[in-house]
Amino acid sequence: MAFDLVFFGGTGDLVWRKLMPALFQAFRHGTLPEGGRIIGVGRDDLSDAQYRQSIQTKFEKVEGEKRPSSEEFARFADLLCYVRMDLSRPEDYAALQQRLAERQTDTVVMYLSTAPILFTTICEQLAAAGLNTPQTRIVLEKPLGHDLASNRAINAVVGKVFKEQQIFRIDHYLGKPSVQNLFALRFGNTLFEPLWRREHIANIQITMAEELGVEKRGGFYEGTGALRDMVQNHALQLLCAIAMEPPINAHADAIRDEKLKVLRALRRWTPETLSQHVIRGQYSAGSVDGQPVPGYRDESGVSPTSSTETFVALRTEIANWRWAGVPFYIRTGKRMAARAAHIEINFRPTPHQIFHTPLGQANKLVIHLQPKDGLELHLFATGQSKRGLGSTGQTLAPVHLDLDFDKRFGSERVGAYERLLLDVLDGRLNLFVRSDEQEEAWRWVEPILQHWATEPVGPRPYNAGTWGPSASSAMIARDGFCWGEEC
Ligand code: BG6
Repeated sequence: MAFDLVFFGGTGDLVWRKLMPALFQAFRHGTLPEGGRIIGVGRDDLSDAQYRQSIQTKFEKVEGEKRPSSEEFARFADLLCYVRMDLSRPEDYAALQQRLAERQTDTVVMYLSTAPILFTTICEQLAAAGLNTPQTRIVLEKPLGHDLASNRAINAVVGKVFKEQQIFRIDHYLGKPSVQNLFALRFGNTLFEPLWRREHIANIQITMAEELGVEKRGGFYEGTGALRDMVQNHALQLLCAIAMEPPINAHADAIRDEKLKVLRALRRWTPETLSQHVIRGQYSAGSVDGQPVPGYRDESGVSPTSSTETFVALRTEIANWRWAGVPFYIRTGKRMAARAAHIEINFRPTPHQIFHTPLGQANKLVIHLQPKDGLELHLFATGQSKRGLGSTGQTLAPVHLDLDFDKRFGSERVGAYERLLLDVLDGRLNLFVRSDEQEEAWRWVEPILQHWATEPVGPRPYNAGTWGPSASSAMIARDGFCWGEEC
C-alpha cells in the first residue's frame, strides 16, 4: 500500500521526539507499509537533505536501543522529504497538492501536530486546495480546544471538510500496550467480568503520576493545567475502558458507543461536590530522586503568581446499574513522588470473617500501565502449618500474583505512537476518539473549570517529590479509603 504521510508542524517537538522515532521502529520491525513517503511541512527554508540531517541529529537523543545505526537511518531517510509552507497561504497548499499528485498514492495522511489554533485554518485550506479526497485521513493531536465551545468549533470545521471515518483524534494513552491489555483482560477473559460491578468492588483508583515538571513547556502549560492536559482526555479514556459495558463486537463504533454511555453517566457536579470532591494543587520547590528542583512558579514561561494547577485529584461516580455508589478516584500530577500510572480495583472485604486479615485490607487488582506493564492480584494466604485451619483467630498474610507483560511479550511490544500510526495507515479507528466522546468529556470537566475561575483560593501547594497536597488523602479518607501507597 503506497502512502504519503504529511506532518504539519514537521520541525516541531512532537515530530522528532515521538512520531519519527515511532515510524522508524515500524520501519525496523518491517510493519511500515511499502512505498511510503513521509513529508515534513514547516516554515523553515530547508531542502530534503537538510530536513533528513536535522532528523538524524535529533535521533541522537533517542533512547539507546531505539536509536538507528547510520546505515539504518540512511535507508529510513530515503522516505523523508520536506515541503516549506506558510499555513495561511493558499498557493502553498496548491504546491503541496501538486507534490502529492506526483504519486497518486492509495492513502494520504495529514497529521496536524501544530498548535490547535491552526487546525481550522489548515482544514479549510486543505478543502480549498481539493486535498480532502476520499483517500485522505486527518490526524488531530490534543489539545482539541480548551473548553466545550472551542472543541465543538474545531470539530464543526473538521467535520465539514472530512467525514467522521476520515478523522483520527489521537489520545496516545489508548495506544499503550497496557491499555489494550485492559480491554483484553475485560473482554477476552471470563474470570473478572462477573466481579466487575458494584456488588464486589468497593472503589476504583486511577493514578497517573509524573516525576517530571513542566520542562520547557511552561508557556503552554500555563494556559492548560492538569485538568485539561491529563484528565479531560487520558484519565477519562481510562475510566471508560474500566467502566464500559462489553461492546457487541470489536468495531470502532461499537467500542465508542459504549465509552460514550459511560461519559454520559458520570455524576453531574453540584456546588457541594465541586468544593469537596475536586482538589487542585501546584508544586513548590522540593526534591525528586534526591535532586533539588524548583517550584512551578519558578519554571521558565510561568507567571510568578500563577494559579495553574499541576495536580488534580477528584472523586466521581457513574450513575448506572453496574456502578451506582462506587467511587471512582482520579489523580494526576507533575513532580510527584514517582513516575507511576496504574489503576487499582479494590474489591469489597469478605462478608463474614473467620480469619484475621491485615486491618482494612481486601483483595485488589492493580493494572500497571507504566513504567511497569502488567497485572498484580493481591490475595490472602497462610503459610502456617503448625496451627491448622480450625484454630481460632488465624491471621492470613497478603500474597501477590504478579504478571509482567514486558517479560512475557518482550520484543513483540509495540509503542503507543507506533501502534497508532500503523492504525491510521490501515484505517482502523478503534483506538481513536469520536467527536461526541470528546465533547461529552469537555461537558463534564467544564463546571470544574468554571468553579475554579470564581474560587478565590487557588491551588494548594505541595512539595515536589510528594504525592500531592494532603487534601487529596483527606478527600478519599472521608469515604473510609486510602490511596494505594498509603494503605
Ligand atoms: C501528554 C501531556 O498528553 O501526556 C503531557 O500533554 C504528559 O503533559 C504526557 O507529560 C504523559 O504521557 P506519558 O505517556 O509519558 O504518560
